[in-house]
Amino acid sequence: MTGLDFEEMLDIARKHRILIGSLVGIGVSFAAMRRYFAGGVCRSKARLDGKTVIITGANTGIGKETAIDLASRGAKVILACRDVMRAERAATDILKKSNNQNVVVKIVDLASLDSIRKFADNINKSEPKIDILINNAGIMMCPYWKTQDGFEMQFGVNHLGHFLLTNLLLDKIKSSAPARIINVSSRAHTRTDKLDFDDLNSEKNYNSMAAYRQSKLANVLFTRELSRRLQGTNVTANSLHPGVVDTELTRYLPQSVPFYFRILFAPIIYIIGKTPLQGAQTTIYCAVEESLANVTGKYFSDCAIKEESKAAQEDEAAKKLWEVSEKLVGLRK
Ligand SMILES: NC(=O)c1ccc[n+]([C@@H]2O[C@H](COP(=O)([O-])OP(=O)(O)OC[C@H]3O[C@@H](n4cnc5c(N)ncnc54)[C@H](OP(=O)(O)O)[C@@H]3O)[C@@H](O)[C@H]2O)c1
Ligand SMILES: *[C@@H]1O[C@H](CO)[C@@H](O)[C@H](O)[C@H]1NC(C)=O
Ligand SMILES: *[C@@H]1O[C@H](CO)[C@@H](O)[C@H](O)[C@H]1NC(C)=O
Ligand SMILES: *[C@@H]1O[C@H](CO)[C@@H](O)[C@H](O)[C@H]1NC(C)=O
Ligand SMILES: *[C@@H]1O[C@H](CO)[C@@H](O)[C@H](O)[C@H]1NC(C)=O
Repeated sequence: MTGLDFEEMLDIARKHRILIGSLVGIGVSFAAMRRYFAGGVCRSKARLDGKTVIITGANTGIGKETAIDLASRGAKVILACRDVMRAERAATDILKKSNNQNVVVKIVDLASLDSIRKFADNINKSEPKIDILINNAGIMMCPYWKTQDGFEMQFGVNHLGHFLLTNLLLDKIKSSAPARIINVSSRAHTRTDKLDFDDLNSEKNYNSMAAYRQSKLANVLFTRELSRRLQGTNVTANSLHPGVVDTELTRYLPQSVPFYFRILFAPIIYIIGKTPLQGAQTTIYCAVEESLANVTGKYFSDCAIKEESKAAQEDEAAKKLWEVSEKLVGLRK
């Protein structure tokens, strides 16, 4: 049960309205259930002194908790965020909680290829190495918006933005080997049959939930292709599902999900949802766990390897997506 995602919750809510309603009504022991749903925990005590970590979307939610943990282990943590104010505020907090002064903010808007290039350029010049890259930033079920370069927002940010970022930083990451790249995907990726290459940008038909699933499937497919391309480099690439986590990821739901749904939704999230700290465990595990040193191309949930969906195991689709993405972000003509 702990591997569910928001969309599945919506589906369950739809199907079992009455049951869930009465469950909530009876007032079952919330505390006990919340503990049950808290999921896997990273128990590694590995230190990261002298290591450099980049985390996208580290100013809130799962990314922020990941930053606090990795900074506590001694890493230099670069918060790759789009909003200066939000990021600086988070940095102050992360610094305090981790007791590590080596926490810096660098601005990047993943909805802008230009911003990503500037960020990568800055990192390339200022950082001698990158030991861990965590592609965590994400956006879910927003209205039909476009990125600066005209891509559908969820595909653009969750997939294409991280695609370009990862590729631009790849040489530096390789030269820092052993290194790790981690993609925060979602179990939502299992709820779509295949990547719709004919409409990657949802131009023919936009469904906010479907677009999120597609973007998260793209994350897992890319892990596959990337880890294949990184063979023999001592750089690993893995993706993961953090669980159902109570974060700001739901910020656009009021615009895409009816009110009565959300009313139903709130107590379920309260019961089965993880806190951001619990939700960050699998990311932290993939970043630090010693036994994963040579593990690559895998998909994790609750601090364990899980099987990704069939659609996410298709090497052909992974390869094709890589090539299409290269063209879309201008890495190849
Ligand atoms: N929460 C869950 O249940 C759940 C389940 C499955 C997967 N995930 C995945 O977990 C990851 C983290 O999500 P979360 O739950 O922690 O959500 P969150 O609290 O909403 O945090 C998302 C982060 O991404 C950043 N971001 C969004 N668009 C960006 C852009 N264009 N450029 C740079 N940064 C951008 C946000 O920055 P701002 O604060 O400036 O907007 C924020 O820091 C996402 O990839 C999400 O898909 C979450
Ligand atoms: C990083 O710098 C190296 C040379 O120092 C250069 O070859 C490479 O193209 C640069 N990469 C990026 C993304 O700027
Ligand atoms: C992460 O996802 C991005 C975009 O989908 C992709 O470019 C990158 O190769 C992926 N990396 C890993 C480790 O999966
Ligand atoms: C990878 O690591 C192994 C052992 O740690 C080392 O022998 C090998 O040279 C490394 N390969 C590269 C490409 O760095
Ligand atoms: C990873 O592989 C290297 C050799 O390539 C080996 O020295 C090391 O012990 C392996 N680490 C683990 C945790 O399996």
